[in-house]
Amino acid sequence: MPEKTKTTKTTKKIKKTEKTEAGPKAVKKPWGGRFSGGTNKAVEAFTESISFDKRLWKYDIQGSVAHARMLGKQGIIPKKDSKLIIDGLTRIASRIADGRFVFREELEDIHMNIETALIDEIGAAGGKLHTARSRNDQVALDLRLYMRSEVKETVGLIKGLKDAFASLAQRHRDVIMPGYTHLQRAQPVLLAHHLLAYAEMMGRDAARFEESLKRINVLPLGACALAGTGLPIDRHYVADLLGFEAVSANSMDSVSDRDFVLEFLCDASILMMHLSRLSEEVVLWATEEFSFIALPDAFATGSSIMPQKKNPDVAELSRGKTGRVYGNLMGMLTVMKALPLTYNRDLQEDKELLFDTVDTVKSVLGVLAQMLPVINFRTERLEETAGEGFSTATDLAEYLVKKGMPFREAHGVVGRVVLFASRKGSRLEDIGLKEYREFSGLFGKDVFQVLSPRASVAAKKSLGGTAPSETARQIEALKKGKKNKKSISLPAKKGK
Ligand code: ARG
Repeated sequence: MPEKTKTTKTTKKIKKTEKTEAGPKAVKKPWGGRFSGGTNKAVEAFTESISFDKRLWKYDIQGSVAHARMLGKQGIIPKKDSKLIIDGLTRIASRIADGRFVFREELEDIHMNIETALIDEIGAAGGKLHTARSRNDQVALDLRLYMRSEVKETVGLIKGLKDAFASLAQRHRDVIMPGYTHLQRAQPVLLAHHLLAYAEMMGRDAARFEESLKRINVLPLGACALAGTGLPIDRHYVADLLGFEAVSANSMDSVSDRDFVLEFLCDASILMMHLSRLSEEVVLWATEEFSFIALPDAFATGSSIMPQKKNPDVAELSRGKTGRVYGNLMGMLTVMKALPLTYNRDLQEDKELLFDTVDTVKSVLGVLAQMLPVINFRTERLEETAGEGFSTATDLAEYLVKKGMPFREAHGVVGRVVLFASRKGSRLEDIGLKEYREFSGLFGKDVFQVLSPRASVAAKKSLGGTAPSETARQIEALKKGKKNKKSISLPAKKGK
């Protein structure tokens, strides 16, 4: 039966293929020695990370160059091989940068893609690069180098946004608006004061990311698979070459933990929470109902059916993307939960969550920094509404306190005044002195001086209050802080 003959042939072919490890077209895996059979294609597709970890290539090469230099210096490999490796890696780097490098899924990840290319490039000496190293400490190293650079960039973007808030506050330093609690008008405030609240949040967010750098900037390389190595490596030398502030103390911890990734995701979540509140206010303020701001056309989008629409999609998406970032944090916490020491392949799941967070945060910060300065504030409307809703009632109570009345009593008196005025449908300014005096004999004709929103704002001179003098002080402090504070200083990168 021809059919059967065919089957037998195929079986034989597979057996032969298995013996020669992976078939004629398949690539030899760097770890292929103990395997007699090839890898199932679905397994290759399932386990690969090259499709996303190729973004680490620069850091992988930077780390390998430093490692090769150390191996040569220590006499673990001949100096000439160390040089061959470094030159080969440099050529590979320019091939990747030019887009001439072919990334292969069969080679799993960025580490094996580059190592295999190196061996193709320089021959046997390339096989010496992975001495006293494992992908476990290598991937931890690449991630730390990547994050060090991304955190620095993120901090720069947050500070940029903070400055945008400060400039906007400066520009609108005389505008009064209603301040809210419970989304109900509460007390008049300066628009600048509201904007500067966000500048403060951005300041803390930037500081959080900056502080995380000291935990990121620790060299894990030299931990090898999990236990360290019997070869005479010099980890401090590698740390110096790569600009690390410290060398990790425990090899098992070095390859197991991703708390530095989690910390980034936490910091990013807090930042996004702040930005989602800003976004929400932009959405609200742009409504007809509020009419506090008008978005320029360049930062709004239309509707495919309703011709009249102008929607605040940038703010909505910034608010919406907060969900992704929280999701990435929860995802990573869940990946890490109850993982036994040390390295487990589960950890490969860290990358997409981290990369997505980095991309999301950077895009949100970037677009908001462009939108903020061009938002048009409807200052007349802000001023007009600032005095509505008995917003200076607290000032009235403070007036009575200054005349000697206990605050709780003053609160009660003014509460009754407000009830009276609201029943009459009048504002606090419209009640006559005679009527005021029926509520308390402490009211005098100077009461009318405290009732305007401008007087209310001007009176809030307590430290951090909304008075123009305090707001000006805060703007000054932000400007000074900008001048005084050195940008995050990392040791210059050597060993490139
Ligand atoms: N691609 C892997 C990761 O991202 C690299 C480390 C693999 N190590 C291993 N022993 N399989 O985590």
